[in-house]
Amino acid sequence: MEKITDPKGMKPGVIVALDLDDLEPALDLARRLVDITPFFKVGLELFCLAGPEAVRRLRDMGAEVFLDLKFHDIPNTVAGAVRSVMSLAPFMLTLHASGGREMLSRAVAESRAAADELAIRRPRLLGVTLLTSIDQDMLSRELGVARTVEQHVAQCAGMCLSSGLDGVIASPGEVQVVRDMTGPDFLIVTPGVRPAGQDPGDQRRVATPGEAIRAGADFVVVGRPITRASDPRGACLSIYDEICDAYDRRNRRC
Ligand code: C5P
Repeated sequence: MEKITDPKGMKPGVIVALDLDDLEPALDLARRLVDITPFFKVGLELFCLAGPEAVRRLRDMGAEVFLDLKFHDIPNTVAGAVRSVMSLAPFMLTLHASGGREMLSRAVAESRAAADELAIRRPRLLGVTLLTSIDQDMLSRELGVARTVEQHVAQCAGMCLSSGLDGVIASPGEVQVVRDMTGPDFLIVTPGVRPAGQDPGDQRRVATPGEAIRAGADFVVVGRPITRASDPRGACLSIYDEICDAYDRRNRRC
């Protein structure tokens, strides 16, 4: 399968997380940024507020939607949820890897069948390995997982790959290990990205956009550093330039 980031020698991508509590300001922001990056994340906050309309209106302005609803339920319910969002034609869709192999592979099968039926492009299905707000201490003490963050992410990524998913969400710190075990075609999308010197907020496992791309990521997801900037266009442009520069160094072709 072709990589969305690089179908025709294109550069890597910045996905702007539209985590806003009102639809019109979110769409206004997207309109101001869509010539810099066409990729926007609709997550739980915006989707719970505005629903499918948010996705349709972004698509109407020519944007590509990363629908980050992090499905996690029994396999039958997740398969149904995948079917329900297919008509919105997102370009990426997320599921929690911890839902297990059956849940993941049923979602893949459902997305293939629905894409054929609707004659639309199949969205890339991505597994959330471990939220970037969870660090080693939380993983061990609160979740009782007796593995390092890196081992846990690697285990989840392996399961996503063998279940037929197109890629994973991982923090910049685990990109390298995931890339090494999955190969060049598997998509790696990294949140937990902060330009140098910025407040990490609730994110625990952070790196700069350039570090994420140099480590092997295909896309970075960036919310607050852009949405809360006094100059969102300037912030977005600067992140875009930084990842292009990092990609150039990595591949000598950006
Ligand atoms: O504002 P900030 O840049 O921290 O936003 C990061 C975005 O990435 C949020 O929309 C969050 O839901 C998402 N995300 C994450 N960690 C994951 C998966 C998604 O932070 N593992």
